[in-house]
Amino acid sequence: MTRLTPVIAPELQPAIQPTLPDAQTVTSVTHWTDSLFSFRVTRPNSLRFRSGEFVMLGLMKEDGRPLLRAYSIASPAWDDELEFYSIKVQDGPLTSRLQHIRPGDQIILRPKPVGTLVHDALIPGKRLWFFATGTGIAPFASLLREPETWEKYDEVILTHTCRDPEDLAYGRQLVDGLPGDPLIGELVGGKLRYYPTTTRGQSARMGRITDLLRSGKVFEDLGVPEIDPETDRAMVCGSIGLNTDLKEILEGFGLREGANSDPAEYVVEKAFVG
Ligand SMILES: Cc1cc2nc3c(=O)[nH]c(=O)nc-3n(C[C@H](O)[C@H](O)[C@H](O)COP(=O)(O)OP(=O)(O)OC[C@H]3O[C@@H](n4cnc5c(N)ncnc54)[C@H](O)[C@@H]3O)c2cc1C
Ligand SMILES: NC(=O)c1ccc[n+]([C@@H]2O[C@H](COP(=O)([O-])OP(=O)(O)OC[C@H]3O[C@@H](n4cnc5c(N)ncnc54)[C@H](OP(=O)(O)O)[C@@H]3O)[C@@H](O)[C@H]2O)c1
Repeated sequence: MTRLTPVIAPELQPAIQPTLPDAQTVTSVTHWTDSLFSFRVTRPNSLRFRSGEFVMLGLMKEDGRPLLRAYSIASPAWDDELEFYSIKVQDGPLTSRLQHIRPGDQIILRPKPVGTLVHDALIPGKRLWFFATGTGIAPFASLLREPETWEKYDEVILTHTCRDPEDLAYGRQLVDGLPGDPLIGELVGGKLRYYPTTTRGQSARMGRITDLLRSGKVFEDLGVPEIDPETDRAMVCGSIGLNTDLKEILEGFGLREGANSDPAEYVVEKAFVG
């Protein structure tokens, strides 16, 4: 005998209520390495942000309180969804759990974006440098897909330094996809220069970006003039050590640090604390 499964008309089905405050639903997850993954979530209708900003996101703890961490939004301001690029810290309170999210799961996302890696914090220039290490590429993944980046600058140079070559995969796929992007491919034209380096695993270009800048190798490799405060602008996102060292280097070239309230030639933001 065939069993009939009752079919309930969609309009009669109970609405699924979010169980978390500020809940958003995961739409896709990509694992890049054992320690890096990216994911996309639904975007709250109320969320307006500037490409390059970060928000607080997380999961509910067992005691019913939210566990939140700062995350750069890796998608551009015009995207219907939000993308994030994350480390997996094996004993990290949040990412030991967040790394297991799957499409359909819910996360908490506080819709209050902030940050200094925004076009508003820089005065006009001709050439824009994005200096990223590790997951510090996330805000630049947003800004690289932001039309304003390409409208404002003649040339954009993305440097991305990671320990191992496989850690570069997310950034490389993004860069490879830009020229064919239906929305901004034409704007990007031939303006993007990509300069990936690794410090531990062997790759075509080795070394910390700080050493490569101090020695002048970056300029030699790219065939570009040294950084000049008249023409060059920079955004930096990495560990506290990287940020401190790069600030010194950029100020050595004559660039001044800017802020939302006082734009100048370069801006910096932490990719993580610790
Ligand atoms: C402004 C800002 C933006 C951030 N944006 C991102 C982002 O886009 N993607 C992201 O993965 N993280 C980002 N972080 C770090 C993030 O807030 C958390 O620290 C991270 O999710 C780990 O959380 P956790 O609770 O598992 O471990 P935590 O207790 O927060 O961190 C444990 C330790 O892991 C290391 N660590 C933490 N985060 C990273 C990282 N991203 N890269 C390398 N080592 C790390 C540090 O040594 C830290 O002390 C950002 C932090 C700040 C301040
Ligand atoms: N990314 C991974 O594959 C991985 C894997 C397992 C665990 N983890 C854990 O995640 C944490 C952070 O790892 P991470 O590699 O993402 O971030 P990270 O330690 O900040 O290193 C990212 C890149 O930045 C470089 N760097 C660090 N400080 C610098 C400075 N002052 N100036 C110039 N360059 C600098 C590093 O070079 P150096 O190599 O020379 O330091 C590395 O190439 C660590 O606790 C690590 O144990 C990471």
